Amino acid sequence: MIGLPFNAGADTNASTKMSEWSELKNSNVEISDLEKQAQRSFQFIHRNLRENGIVRGAVIASPSKHSPNYFYHWVRDAGLTMRELIAVYANTKDLRTKGLVKELILDWVIFEESNQRVATFNSNLGEPIFTVLGEIYPHPWGRPQTDGPAIRALAMIEWLEALVAEGGNESIIERLYQPELPANSPIKKDLEYIAHNWQLPSFDLWEEVRGNHFFTRMAQRAALIKGSALAFALGDNEASKFYKLQSQLIETELLKHIDGEREFIRPTLSQTDGWTHKTSELDVSVILGSLYFSLEDNFFTPDSKYVLMTAQKLENQFKNIYSINKTLFLGTAIGRYPEDVYDGTGFGGGNPWFLATNAFAELHCRAARFVGRGSVNERDRAHSFLRRALYHSDRNGHMSEQISRHNGYMMGARDLTWSYSSFVRALRYCEGPQILGLFK
Ligand code: NOJ
Ligand code: NOJ
Repeated sequence: MIGLPFNAGADTNASTKMSEWSELKNSNVEISDLEKQAQRSFQFIHRNLRENGIVRGAVIASPSKHSPNYFYHWVRDAGLTMRELIAVYANTKDLRTKGLVKELILDWVIFEESNQRVATFNSNLGEPIFTVLGEIYPHPWGRPQTDGPAIRALAMIEWLEALVAEGGNESIIERLYQPELPANSPIKKDLEYIAHNWQLPSFDLWEEVRGNHFFTRMAQRAALIKGSALAFALGDNEASKFYKLQSQLIETELLKHIDGEREFIRPTLSQTDGWTHKTSELDVSVILGSLYFSLEDNFFTPDSKYVLMTAQKLENQFKNIYSINKTLFLGTAIGRYPEDVYDGTGFGGGNPWFLATNAFAELHCRAARFVGRGSVNERDRAHSFLRRALYHSDRNGHMSEQISRHNGYMMGARDLTWSYSSFVRALRYCEGPQILGLFK
């Protein structure tokens, strides 16, 4: 039975769930499929982080070294994955797991500190990819990608918050943020970079289009708002005001992405370079931007009108263009955007992606929370997306980047770190963070 007992009753509060869970453990009932997959995903992430031949702290996008070669550290994928490990750290009571994720997080911080130095020396902090040894990616690429430093800063701020929540470790906190200028600590470096450079056109998260992106701006706004609060707490008052002001300017820009007539959020404005075939202007990056970076302040939150309308339009499109969506009684397999042609190795046509399908599960779980009771349907719908992802994984729970739109087999980079972290994330939002306490 999938998802029981957690999905019985949409608004069970956390403590009830906890006690239900301990009863479940005591009676040795088998862990449900979704929970099992989340646990496996956590283990696959761990395996990728400790892959042979990489410097500690490097987060390979995938172990695949050819067709495609994803054996690199993308700042974005890494930061998003670290946020999940930080959530595990904050929610587990198992000391072994806690120790293990702490080590992984500390290694990542050290690796990113080095990347920041390498990037600053060679170009700027918008450098999107590093080799597994911590060098600049030595080829032409879509540069800069300014979501990276924002996601990195957000993840490090969340790490700092997790440490503070348990009484704080002064030396780690000081190492992460210091008011000093020119910035010499990792969070401060990224915040300064974002606060001064967010207006720069950037390549999007799909590395195809240069312009102003909803996803990127949402990441930057979140980093600056949380950064402003942190700066204030640490007595860096002028910086706090400056970050806050910049976040407000970004908000003005973000609102321009609303297309009132077509009733959706546009992913990119003022394109200056890159692919020009994305004529529908529907892109799952908008949904990801809301899920990953909205704060609880009604600004493009997952329950807001335009986010949900964008999601509905995307789903309608993908239902039509991917034939696997016609035949199976499962949630719709979701892709990046309707005009996508990247098949994971070449340009044979776009496919559904695990991370996009997982995101739709998260979206409906979070929307359900706002709707309250009587929203069992919405939760069922959410779970249908997770079952879809599970259906296309293999029997050991492996997930690649994409799912063939024709036959449902996995395509693209195998064991994509982000596919796993997005699954864990979806379940964290669907079942509550205490689910992470189960990971070993
Ligand atoms: C690799 C990029 O990472 C991917 O997002 C893009 O679609 C393809 N290259 C094609 O440009
Ligand atoms: C291609 C995706 O488009 C991009 O978002 C991602 O960062 C890289 N692959 C690595 O997974």
